[in-house]
Parts: sequence; C-alpha cells; structure tokens
Amino acid sequence: MTIIVTGGAGFIGSNFIFHMLKKYPDYRIVCLDSLTYAGNLSTLKGVMENKNFRFVKDDICNREGVFALFEEERPDAVVNFAAESHVDRSIEEPQIFLQTNILGTATLMDACREYKVGRYHQVSTDEVYGDLPLDRPDLFFTETTPLHTSSPYSSSKASADLLVLAYHRTYGLPVTISRCSNNYGPYHFPEKLIPLMIANALNDKSLPVYGKGENVRDWLYVEDHCKAIDLILHKGRVGEVYNVGGHNEMKNIDIVKLICKELGKPESLITYVVDRKGHDLRYAIDPTKIHNELGWLPETKFADGIKKTIKWYLENREWWQEIISGEYKNYYERMYKNR
Ligand code: NAD
Ligand code: TYD
Repeated sequence: MTIIVTGGAGFIGSNFIFHMLKKYPDYRIVCLDSLTYAGNLSTLKGVMENKNFRFVKDDICNREGVFALFEEERPDAVVNFAAESHVDRSIEEPQIFLQTNILGTATLMDACREYKVGRYHQVSTDEVYGDLPLDRPDLFFTETTPLHTSSPYSSSKASADLLVLAYHRTYGLPVTISRCSNNYGPYHFPEKLIPLMIANALNDKSLPVYGKGENVRDWLYVEDHCKAIDLILHKGRVGEVYNVGGHNEMKNIDIVKLICKELGKPESLITYVVDRKGHDLRYAIDPTKIHNELGWLPETKFADGIKKTIKWYLENREWWQEIISGEYKNYYERMYKNR
C-alpha cells in the first residue's frame, strides 16, 4: 500500500505520518509538501531515513509536478492535509487560502481520477459549520448541519468539501471527508492558541487573549485525530463525511489560565486584546456517527493531553525557538503590536 500524504511537514500531517509508519511497517508513505512558513522539515527528521518514507517538496497546485508524482508512485490512497490553516492569516490575506485549499484540492483529485486512486481522503474541519451560540450548550454540529462559514479560511475549506463531494457524485471518485475539531499536541505551529501561549509564557511575554476569552473550542489530542483518519481510510464508507471530536469544550481564557498554572507563571501575563474579526463563538462536535459506524472514541483526556503537550514544548525548545526567531517575528509584530 502506497499513501501520498500531503501537508505532512505540518502539525497534524506529521503526527499522522509517525502514526502510520509505526502501525503499518509494510506501508509506503510519500509526503508531498511545499514547505510554506507552516511546514518544517526538521519535524520529519526522525523518519527521513525510514526506507518506507519519501519526502517530496512540491506544491499541490502544481499540476505537472503532482501528476508526475502520481505517475511515479501509483498511490493506492491520498490523504490531503495540505492547507493554509490559520484563520487570522486568512483575514489578512485570503487569496492564498483559495489557491491552496480549493484549487490544490481539485488538482489532487484530478490526479486521483487520472491514476484511478482507490481512496481520496480530505482532512476538513468543524469550522465549515460556522459557529454555535454560547447560550445553547444543547446544540452540536452533526454531519447534516448546513455549511455556514465565517472566515475566508473556513469558506475555503467548505468550498473544498463541496468539490470533493461533487467529484464523488460526478466522476465516482472514491472519497471520504473528516471534519475534526481543534487539535493540540506536539509540532503545533506557535501561531495557534495553545502553542503560542506556552511559548509566550515560557518567555515571560504577555498572553494575548482575543476579546473576553469567552469563545469556546472543542479540543482533541492530535493522536486521536490521526487514529480517526486511519479508521476512516480503512473502514469508512465512500462518499461519507465523518465528524471527529471528543466532547471537550473549553473557553479560551480557561485554557490560558491552565497553561499559566501548569508552567507556574502568573495570570498577570494575560492581556485582553482587540477581538478577531468575525470571531466564531463556539464549536462543538457530535461524534456519534464515527463512534457507531467505526467504533472510534478519543483516548486522551484533555487533562493528560495538555500536560503531555506542555512537556513536549519544554523538551523540544529548539524546534519552536527556531521558528519564533525567524520570519515569525514580523508576523507577530503585524498581528499583535498595538492590538
Ligand atoms: P499546518 O498549517 O500546521 O500545516 C499545513 C502543511 O501544509 C504545512 O506543512 C505546509 O507546508 C503544507 N502546505 C501548505 N500549502 C501547501 C501547498 N500549496 N502545497 C503543498 N503543501 C502545502 O496545518 P495543520 O494544523 O496540520 O492542519 C492540517 C489539515 O487539517 C488542514 O487541512 C486543516 O484545515 C485541517 N484541520 C486542522 C485542525 C487544527 O486544529 N489544526 C482541525 C481540523 C482540521
Ligand atoms: P486558533 O488556535 O487560531 O484556532 P481557531 O481559530 O481555528 O479555532 O484559535 C483558537 C481560539 O483562541 C480562537 O477563539 C481565537 C483564540 N486566540 C486568542 O485568544 N489569542 C491568540 O493569540 C490566538 C492565536 C487565538
């Protein structure tokens, strides 16, 4: 079995590659990644020498390159993680999100059609459903909740999902889609909430909480997401969407306070800054379908997962310090100075 994993130098893609190489020693994993600011070759250094692993630097929008790779590798499956993934950046500069997230997805699926690939899996997000009100804790996203996006990021992901389902109906492409809630864990790029707060707290820098910090996200440990995708790939029904989430809703402010507590840092580091434009209030996944059909359940409780994650950032300072000392500095200035 040969699987092309796109975006494998990023957060979730790399964790998925580690999971697959460990669990299936006879599978060949080919990582296709253009190494944008969010992609990091150092993340993959532990698998570079693995004989079942190959890294290819290319853009999923580069039709010629993608087709040449499919010709060479004749993959059995494709799992598409490659994306521009940060809402704040999508508000600053939407165009690249449309390019990679929509056109890149179409290019990959065209190659799947041409080379009769047995499965195309699209890694999507719960953000395609928009948000839920804070005062209705009884409401959850199911697979039939209408798509109702808020940001250029989520709109580009929803567009891609529609295209994936259209390729299934129109061309019979064997597709599956997973829509997961917020992930956390090792190799999470430090522009996202949890790793940003850990890195800032460790450097005694202020912890910028948007608005009042009342927004709610549904957090899942990254390994649990990878296991869900593995299950969908092997046992999921073609043409189906599966929501992935572990019923772990938390307010942003509570997460930031928890990080302060775990690191022994004072809450006085917390600063409330101007809210994100169009900020989604609450995400909450109903994972009944993947549980009933595929038997998936999250294994890592948040209390353990956040400890493991903080420990990883403490033990792998080089990885994130290298990132925050480069181009990231300009990003941080743009995004947070005078906010
Ligand atoms: P990430 O930003 O950490 O990584 C994205 C990777 O894609 C990087 O390695 C980057 O170099 C690569 N990439 C970007 N544009 C590319 C292109 N044009 N061609 C080839 N490679 C390209 O993202 P992530 O957090 O690991 O998310 C992975 C996927 O999971 C995304 O599709 C995202 O929408 C989805 N998702 C993420 C979360 C989350 O909480 N992070 C939750 C649900 C779904
Ligand atoms: P983020 O990690 O960007 O994920 P997403 O927007 O895709 O859910 O943000 C998670 C939540 O944390 C979101 O409500 C915005 C908030 N947030 C802050 O309050 N401060 C920050 O510096 C960042 C990056 C996010």
